[in-house]
Amino acid sequence: MVRLELPIIIVNFKGYREAIGEKAVQLAKIAEEVSVETGVTIAVAPQYVDVFRIASVVSVPVFAQHIDPVVPGSFTGHVIAEAVKEAGAVGTLINHSERRLILADIDGAVKRAREVGLVSVVCSNNPEVSAAVAALNPNMVAVEPPELIGTGIPVSKAKPEVVTSTVNVVRKVNPDVVVLCGAGISSGDDVEAALKLGTRGVLLASGVVKAKDPKKVLLEMAEAAQRSEG
Ligand code: G3P
Repeated sequence: MVRLELPIIIVNFKGYREAIGEKAVQLAKIAEEVSVETGVTIAVAPQYVDVFRIASVVSVPVFAQHIDPVVPGSFTGHVIAEAVKEAGAVGTLINHSERRLILADIDGAVKRAREVGLVSVVCSNNPEVSAAVAALNPNMVAVEPPELIGTGIPVSKAKPEVVTSTVNVVRKVNPDVVVLCGAGISSGDDVEAALKLGTRGVLLASGVVKAKDPKKVLLEMAEAAQRSEG
């Protein structure tokens, strides 16, 4: 399994028109430039069908947006961990708010990720769910209050208690799990606030994908992350 340096900024491309196909490649190249300029780890999570293409041309870590808890075989339409890995991904999101799973399937997907050597980032909607999924021993938990997703209202400022409670509860349940937060993160300030609350990075989408100048925003975020570490 690849060891990702912290802090980390993960840019989820979701299904946004601005980040599909050739545009996804361009955005991943921007992530690469900013990562090289600042030394901060920036990962991208494009659509599955763009994973291979992006992983072939950029050096930043590429994540799948989801994997299914199944082994290779007769699973038409499922996302197989081995295929994601072979396409060049180093990790996967699991249980994103827009791709929720039942607990047993989160467990299955985390285990599949571990078996094939993919970094697992399990999303949760609140501290209680963060505690539950931390017990499954993923590499990271990303807490994202669904009501703030895509709003531009940053969780790190609007609901800091959700972030600190998650940091505390995950530390108790499983201190090996890295905590990230996301939802509404759109500026360097938001990233700085997230790291000050005890997280080791952020998971974000619209603040960068839909920005007029994604490079400017991402650079500001990476510089904030660099400062917070210093
Ligand atoms: O996966 C990231 C996410 O759900 C947060 O989205 O647009 O609020 O940064 P956004």
